[in-house]
Amino acid sequence: KTVPTKRSKFGEHEPEQVIFSENNLMAPTSQLYIVCGFAAIGGFCFGYDTGVISGVLTMNLFIETMTGGEKFLTSLQTSVITGLLLAGCFVGSLFAAPLCERFSRKYTIIIASVVFNIGAAIQVAANGYDMMIAGRFVAGLGVGSLSMAVPLYLSELAPKEIRGRLISLQQLTITIGIMVAFWVGAGTQYLRTHNSWRIPLGIQIAPAVVLMVGTAFLPFSPRWLINKGRNEEALAVLARLHSRGDKHNPEVVAEYEEIIAQVEHERTVSVSSYVELLKGTVRKRLILGVVIQIFQQFTGINSIMYYAPTIFQQAGVPGKAASLIASGVNGVLNVLCTIIPIIYLDRLGRRIVLISGAIIMGTAMLLCGIVMGATASVFENAVTGQMEVDMSGNSAASYFCIVMVYVFVAGFAYSWGPCGWVYPAEIYPLSIRAKGTSITTAANWLMNFVISLFVPVMLTTITWGTYVFFGCCCMVMAVSVFLFYPETKGRSLEEMDIVFSGPVLAYKDVRNAESKFQRGNLEKEESFQDV
Ligand code: GLC
Repeated sequence: KTVPTKRSKFGEHEPEQVIFSENNLMAPTSQLYIVCGFAAIGGFCFGYDTGVISGVLTMNLFIETMTGGEKFLTSLQTSVITGLLLAGCFVGSLFAAPLCERFSRKYTIIIASVVFNIGAAIQVAANGYDMMIAGRFVAGLGVGSLSMAVPLYLSELAPKEIRGRLISLQQLTITIGIMVAFWVGAGTQYLRTHNSWRIPLGIQIAPAVVLMVGTAFLPFSPRWLINKGRNEEALAVLARLHSRGDKHNPEVVAEYEEIIAQVEHERTVSVSSYVELLKGTVRKRLILGVVIQIFQQFTGINSIMYYAPTIFQQAGVPGKAASLIASGVNGVLNVLCTIIPIIYLDRLGRRIVLISGAIIMGTAMLLCGIVMGATASVFENAVTGQMEVDMSGNSAASYFCIVMVYVFVAGFAYSWGPCGWVYPAEIYPLSIRAKGTSITTAANWLMNFVISLFVPVMLTTITWGTYVFFGCCCMVMAVSVFLFYPETKGRSLEEMDIVFSGPVLAYKDVRNAESKFQRGNLEKEESFQDV
């Protein structure tokens, strides 16, 4: 597919044509993949820390240490231990923005890893409940900052043709973290030593130390460097990562100059305060970014990730086995299906992946809920007073529901899992990218917290209605993306002003996106010349 030459005031460096095909990519180097893969270790800490606690919470010696000898944690204690991490993530993602702007994306990743390690160490050393929840909160500050800084860093290092793939690496490592946490937890259950619950919590320190030390050797984001006036360094990074050190490669030069032009443009038309996020097309981007993150949580993925064993028990699978086939198999499936967008996201585009993913998830959830509602007996537990579901009388229906849960997880993993992080990291102008990404990330954590709080209540009150609810949410998401979300694939971060300058109804714009893009570049060129 060809598009006419993008003419800027730096025309002498522009290639005749930009061809979006495999053959004409900017030859991303293996170093680029290594750097991005390394930064994505942040995702592993995210996934592991959110995933590890469910196993630890069921360990008797952990419960005794937390309660001073009791046999049970109250449901409030369980919720606080789980939820304070998420609260820390929320705060951490907000605080990371000024760090990213001032000290760089790179140093923010290092600072976040240090904070994460302190939190993890407090959890490992905890001799009671108070220390544990303090550790959870501090680790959350680190995870939250990483979850915001890593996609931002990846988006700014990536050539536009493979940006989706590189940011998706974070989601891949998140899913690997969740999976490893489950299997480590499952293995540690068999250890009978007094302190065995400290092992799964301690393991997370290793990748975070690797990330902390190794990030010191990673390059700064070229966009951050240019924003700080360190242009020579930025060109060297772009050349090293995108064309094996060739500073004269026309595409590297074009990208470099496009960033410089954008920085100059932004300096003349905007300031970089939070207020700027509420103006013009940036407000539209803020809304779309926040909503996509809220939607990601309202797919209901964490109802499955956190409460899959309960769900599978409801579907008729007995206790221990339920946990293993629910969380264990789900974890593996989640990882495997996240590989798909790494290969295809940049070819298919964000819109089609998000829309099809939402339809698949919505269908699976609705079918699961309806079949459960039609076949299960729902009754009130005389002891707890909570509603329960019994599907043991109908094994066909219960297998069907289990399969639907797997279909849902696969649908999420190839679409909203990665895209929920990719899209918000690529839409903001450089001067407020860190702030915009931090607000969207905070929205994700807030909703994660809300879901973790309400799903247990939903499962024991409206039971199968929980799945119908999330199924309906997914359908709303498919329609919303179709209507409102412009395609961002293959556009440079500097071209997003044009991508988001179209009408509110994005689907109307899709057909003439290319011509709008050309027009927009000409207008932008004129505005540069006016400047
Ligand atoms: C995404 C979500 C996270 C979820 C994970 C599951 O990263 O943001 O909340 O636990 O996917 O794979």
